[in-house]
Amino acid sequence: MPMLDNSKIEEIRKSVNIIDIISEYLPLTQRGRNYFGVCPFHDDHSPSMSVSPDLQIYTCFSCGATGNVFKFIMDYENLSFMDAVKKVADKGGIDVNLSLVKSKKIVNSEIYEIYSIARKLYQNNLNSEYGLEAKEYLAKRDISEEIIKEFGIGLSLKKNDVLTNLLIKKEFKNTDIIKSGLIIQNSHGLHDIYSNRIMFPLENLEGKTVGFSGRIYNTSDTSKYINTKETEIFKKGEILYNYHRAKDACRLSKTVIIMEGFMDVIRAYTIGIFNVVASMGTAITKNHALLLKKLAPNIILLFDGDEAGEKATLSCIEELANVGVIPKVVRLEENLDPDDYIRKYGKEKFLSKLENPINVMEFKMQHLKSKINLNDSVELAKYVNECLKELNAINDDILREITLKKLVNESGIDESLLRSKLENKKIIKKETVVKEVKHYDKYEKAQRNLIFYMLNSIMVIKKYIKKTVFLPDDNYRRLANKIRYFYEEHNNSFNVADFYTYVNQSDNEDLIKTLNNILNMNLKEEAADNEIDDYFKVINDYNIKNEINKIDFELQKSDNLNLKKEKLKKLVELKKREGKND
Ligand code: CTP
Ligand code: MN
Repeated sequence: MPMLDNSKIEEIRKSVNIIDIISEYLPLTQRGRNYFGVCPFHDDHSPSMSVSPDLQIYTCFSCGATGNVFKFIMDYENLSFMDAVKKVADKGGIDVNLSLVKSKKIVNSEIYEIYSIARKLYQNNLNSEYGLEAKEYLAKRDISEEIIKEFGIGLSLKKNDVLTNLLIKKEFKNTDIIKSGLIIQNSHGLHDIYSNRIMFPLENLEGKTVGFSGRIYNTSDTSKYINTKETEIFKKGEILYNYHRAKDACRLSKTVIIMEGFMDVIRAYTIGIFNVVASMGTAITKNHALLLKKLAPNIILLFDGDEAGEKATLSCIEELANVGVIPKVVRLEENLDPDDYIRKYGKEKFLSKLENPINVMEFKMQHLKSKINLNDSVELAKYVNECLKELNAINDDILREITLKKLVNESGIDESLLRSKLENKKIIKKETVVKEVKHYDKYEKAQRNLIFYMLNSIMVIKKYIKKTVFLPDDNYRRLANKIRYFYEEHNNSFNVADFYTYVNQSDNEDLIKTLNNILNMNLKEEAADNEIDDYFKVINDYNIKNEINKIDFELQKSDNLNLKKEKLKKLVELKKREGKND
């Protein structure tokens, strides 16, 4: 990983105010000292995210998201830590020596350059006299000049090897030319792979061209599309078509729509639907699922209306379920794909479909039903059983109830019978976010509260150092000691936002989790001195009790009289100290 030293990172963080930065992404309103907004990291409409100008930290009390300005940008924009730092540096007007933040993209710079040259060449071709027929084709498909530009659509010529010759003239190395996947080498030398196809650039998550898909338009080749082969920088399973254009719209609407084909995405774009991406005909991978999950809390699957689209929907549901996401589904009639549907039925009808997606259970029922003859009792029984199986997997009691009623109506089977087949589930209320409510005993609470106030006040850190108290819980003790270390390293000063970066760089998952968890505690901002003293006392008591128990145990086990005497003496001392402070 490229490194900037910590003091530079702290300087960058201090160069901006988290309130200003988050305000660029969502509206914040001041209430008391803190600011509040609607959390972008879960599906919500009330302002559950609080941002503290004092601590330079945000916390969502509903979903538990928390962090400093870097973390916010990392999660919102799906950037690496270093890229988030660069972005903040940019906003803060701090010069980061770019050579320090070299990333692996530089390694493939030649390949990126080849794609960029190819893209321009294809675009020029389309606008030349050779592009008239292709333009006509695009016009017939209602793709405007504006859209052509926006998506960088171009044309590869029938004429042989235009791109090859250009790249050779520009003195690219043969190995790079071949590596790009746009050129192939045979016994006669290098040749263009694409000839006489409409060229759609494929872009990575940042919007850089990493390949092309070429479509036939006036011939009847067996392959409708030819995609650039996968390379180090282009893996179909890792990119989603239109991701970088859709990102902001997905955030704003809290919804991402996923389609199969990029032509569908382009069509959606023409009618003003921007929060849409495409998997480009491949099955959704775990990687895709994670990307979608990060993009927006609501996911709508809008695949082709044919049977392949139905299957793709089912497998996408599975993949999303593996990362804990339940999407909604829109199915199109007459085997139409979104592009066809919009062109046939128009924007309004499409939008109304989009606004009324069905839930996964309903989709699965429809799917199961489509395969059987409801008048055949054997098939009906099979259908009902399959549905019950699916129903048992649902955790949402209201949805279970609705679906059960539906099943009763459809099958005519007695409700009580169907109900008796349902597993007795502990009822979980439907909530967009189910926050774990954990109960801590008073000792754990004391440790947590103490750390919370250490993060909030130097006075408490000082007290912690002076008292040399031993926190019994490993994670809490490590965290408290890290705070102490950080404080001393910074000449007896402490800043929680920088401390957050420091802990998050440690790769210690437990520690990061504990810190997040404590930052998320909804305590009042300041504690009175005697409250803090109380925490120390509780922790001390705990340690003494432990010690007493240990000695008690040893006393019972030991036969050595002298040793017993000594232990007893210690026990008396300890009992005296019990309940006292320090
Ligand atoms: N695809 C592909 N190779 C093919 C066919 C399809 O790579 N021979 C991918 C493309 O990325 C395409 C997606 O699968 O966007 C969906 O395929 P399909 O539904 O056949 O294409 P459409 O989006 O309907 O394209 P068009 O309307 O231009 O026919
Ligand atoms: Mn189509």
